[in-house]
Amino acid sequence: MIDRYSREISYLRLSVTELCNLRCRYCMPEEGICKKAHTDMLTEDEMITAVECGAILGVNKLRITGGEPLVKKNILSIVERSAHVPGIKEVCMTTNGVLLPEYARDLKAAGLSRLNISLDTLNAEKFRYITRVGDLDRVITGIEAAEAAGFTNTKINVVLIGGFNDDEICDMAELTRNLKVNIRFIELMPMGDDTSAFGPSAYIPSQRVLELLPELIPVPSPTGDVAKRYRFPDGKGHIGLITPVSNHFCSTCNRIRLTSDGKLKPCLHSSTEYSIKGLPKEEMLEVMRNAIWSKPEKHDPLSHSCRSGAGRDMNQIGG
Ligand code: GTP
Ligand code: 5AD
Ligand code: SF4
Repeated sequence: MIDRYSREISYLRLSVTELCNLRCRYCMPEEGICKKAHTDMLTEDEMITAVECGAILGVNKLRITGGEPLVKKNILSIVERSAHVPGIKEVCMTTNGVLLPEYARDLKAAGLSRLNISLDTLNAEKFRYITRVGDLDRVITGIEAAEAAGFTNTKINVVLIGGFNDDEICDMAELTRNLKVNIRFIELMPMGDDTSAFGPSAYIPSQRVLELLPELIPVPSPTGDVAKRYRFPDGKGHIGLITPVSNHFCSTCNRIRLTSDGKLKPCLHSSTEYSIKGLPKEEMLEVMRNAIWSKPEKHDPLSHSCRSGAGRDMNQIGG
């Protein structure tokens, strides 16, 4: 469907749970979150109906997010049923990778097309620090398991944090020289309470990557991609820069989000939400049509002092 600013909305991001097995400092409070009542969350059938409504309105790409989608018990069934919805060409997932050693094969068999894996550092101690509880080896094994299961074009998401991992930019980028991987550096977004402990110097523009690596050459990005792509002249993989803070990409935004408690979010950085929980399909379709039509032209500028207007923590939206 085309929205009122002539953008074609073809990408639905479905957060299947707010829960996570990690506690990244920029995403979730240390104590985790209060589990909401089951009755407040979308059922699996409601999620699939929402995907069907999206497809009727022109959505052809679905991304399953969280929290951490792999902690959801019925995740394989959600993937499999979504992949069978007429009109859905691609079902992707963004995961922290911790449970991929167990799940990679089954996800492939269920029809998952592609994986994006979050990994902010290659140093085990730093990984434990930023995730508060995580074990880096699990994620590395998870990335290997994804490859062994036959996933290709896997992307690694690195949230750039000044004073934490800016000293690893070159090492991480170097991985793309000999491996066919896609490493994407994401500017830290000032979401909710979780990022307020980070000082102004934590917000580093992804331009820093280009300053450190002047030999990178730009390559065309697929349409609808939020990342600008680069590669080393002799590189096998790609480096992507995602710039929600220094240069937002609202004018080409092709997405809408659905939270696990059934709220459609036309914009990541707006608190405007449309509930579809408990609605029959026809009504859900109308609410979704209205939400897409009401998608704002752009969000307000973001910075350390201008916080996101999302009204939720990142674990409740899924990025
Ligand atoms: P691809 O299908 O591989 O292009 O994935 P993706 O980049 O759409 O999804 P992913 O979940 O890997 O998101 C990467 C980062 O981009 C996350 O930090 C998201 O929060 C951020 N991001 C994704 N969509 C948007 C958006 O619409 N606006 C903003 N500001 N950031 C976004
Ligand atoms: N700023 C930027 N990226 C974030 N992510 C989670 N919180 C933030 C934030 N405040 C990233 C995760 C994951 C993706 C979906 O969003 O690392 O890769
Ligand atoms: Fe979990 Fe992802 Fe949030 Fe980290 S960023 S706590 S892995 S949902």
